[in-house]
Amino acid sequence: MCGIVGYIGANGAVKEVLLNGLSKLEYRGYDSAGLVCVENNRVFYERSLGRVSNLESAVVKSKVLKLIDNKASFGIAHTRWATHGKPSKENAHPHKAGDIYLVHNGIVENYKELKEALLTVDGSIEFTSQTDSEVLVHLISSKLDSNPRRSMVEAVQSSLNLVKGTYAIVVLNIVSGEMVCACNGSPLVLGIADDEGLLVASDTVALIGYAKHYLRLADGDVVSLSPKEYVFVSGTDKEVLELEESGQTSSLGGVFGHYMLKEIYEQGEVVDRVVNNKGQIYDILPKILKAKRLIIVGCGTSYNVGLVAEYLIERLSQISVEVEVASEFRYRDMPMSEGDVAIVLSQSGETVDTLEAVKLCKERGVLTVGIVNVEGSAIANACDAVIYNKAGREVSVASTKAFTSQLAVLSMLAIMLGECRSSLTTIEATNLMSELSNLPAVLSQELDRMSKQMEDLAKKYGSIENIICLGRGVQSAIALEGALKIKEVSYINAQAYPSGEIKHGPLALVDPNTLCIILAPKDELYTKSLSVIEEVKARGGIVIAITTPNGKEVIQSSDGVVIVPSVMDELLPFMTILPMQFFAYHLALLRGCDVDKPRNLAKSVTVE
Ligand code: G6P
Repeated sequence: MCGIVGYIGANGAVKEVLLNGLSKLEYRGYDSAGLVCVENNRVFYERSLGRVSNLESAVVKSKVLKLIDNKASFGIAHTRWATHGKPSKENAHPHKAGDIYLVHNGIVENYKELKEALLTVDGSIEFTSQTDSEVLVHLISSKLDSNPRRSMVEAVQSSLNLVKGTYAIVVLNIVSGEMVCACNGSPLVLGIADDEGLLVASDTVALIGYAKHYLRLADGDVVSLSPKEYVFVSGTDKEVLELEESGQTSSLGGVFGHYMLKEIYEQGEVVDRVVNNKGQIYDILPKILKAKRLIIVGCGTSYNVGLVAEYLIERLSQISVEVEVASEFRYRDMPMSEGDVAIVLSQSGETVDTLEAVKLCKERGVLTVGIVNVEGSAIANACDAVIYNKAGREVSVASTKAFTSQLAVLSMLAIMLGECRSSLTTIEATNLMSELSNLPAVLSQELDRMSKQMEDLAKKYGSIENIICLGRGVQSAIALEGALKIKEVSYINAQAYPSGEIKHGPLALVDPNTLCIILAPKDELYTKSLSVIEEVKARGGIVIAITTPNGKEVIQSSDGVVIVPSVMDELLPFMTILPMQFFAYHLALLRGCDVDKPRNLAKSVTVE
């Protein structure tokens, strides 16, 4: 959450470097943005509400703040996801105190105490924002004022000693050109610019085009930056890594109107990639085989994938599975033992709650295996072992192809575990594997049709304000993920329940203005799903059913139907999720929502 980019060096076009970096980091937050930079001896400071494109326009018209005599080029920039204080120009970063400017990602938990203490010492300090971050810049500035011989890096260090919470910060003195960065619980990478200079950013994607090598900072690091060198003032120097550009960027390529649609269409490809990289799963298998219990942890869509996997793994391998929301996991004090293995799911590899769950498991001596999309990310680094789900960069905030690729990894794992533990015969395992390998071909034939059908249904029911998604068995997890997609992108109130639960409360909501999406493929629970359709219809509810070609009774009794291809029951979730994703997408489009960047959300959640 919140994207940071900074530059110090020889490239005269600092505004361009910063704006370019910011637009690549916009997935981290997009409610406001700002920058301060020195370009050709002139200082520019601009902030604006909304997207980075608004900041770009403001920067074009922006006036020179002052002229200074510093030959170097440098600057810092930020794209915000509001925590403290509404999205506004005043709350946008960089925040300033005299010549010191600061950008921050994270939360200063004790900002109120720090602010009071500052005001007690100097009542003239003027706070101009509602943010927790602004206190940091005043703190640093007051440390410098109280002892003019102190360097900025010393002022930063002693200020950070007072902070409770998480941070990635870059601090800049626009006159002296001193730049310092530090992090604790929020990510920062340092890029070595191709021409002379250094970049600092929340994610390596912002370095592309400017640096081929980088370092990943660790918690507690404080680094002083100058055009020619970086000095670790706290923490130890880090290994310089090569920047892997492939898979880091994605473009719409003129074919799709939105990344969400593009990424839905990429789901065949991602399954293919996982199937062709089964070596990495085999490598980890011996460690997981010994497990008495698997604990799957994740947030949002990653958590929902875990729920699907719970059914699959228990059924195919007979290993008991617990699925936990990472944000609750660390407060549950769940008994854990050495026989447990934690499987940690995260697309971004950054979600702070998931990262904390990894740390807790490790403290308790539980082996952690990450299934992560972003290579070298914090969660990938923190886990004892990692399987990359290789979905490629997912741009849309609402996750689609990452879901499918994580599910492909977990399905393969479930099959392999089942075979090794003899709960599946070799023939059964081979059949499942070969059907999984065949999914991309099936998908490529079906996506256009499903998209069109869901578009038509979205047109018909798009004005409805209440949706209930229902499924039985493993489909209850798909109902949850479908409802999450609908909420995220169309802002329609969509709830999900295991179908059997409807009569224990949710049925009271059903009336002619309620749309129920019922996942009813012809699997072993088909007849149960049929009864639910009848119960909803009897109360006047509208039913859209998702079923397989042989689900004749469902087809006859529903108001709208989408047919997904028949595959083995265990692999049906790969099929039934597709209409849900398409429906959410088309609803959002018809309702004029910002599909790829839904209001209030961010793709990477680095605050608790
Ligand atoms: C955010 C994103 C979701 C994602 C969740 C977990 O809420 O908007 O799309 O599912 O975080 O993220 P992770 O990167 O850990 O899978």
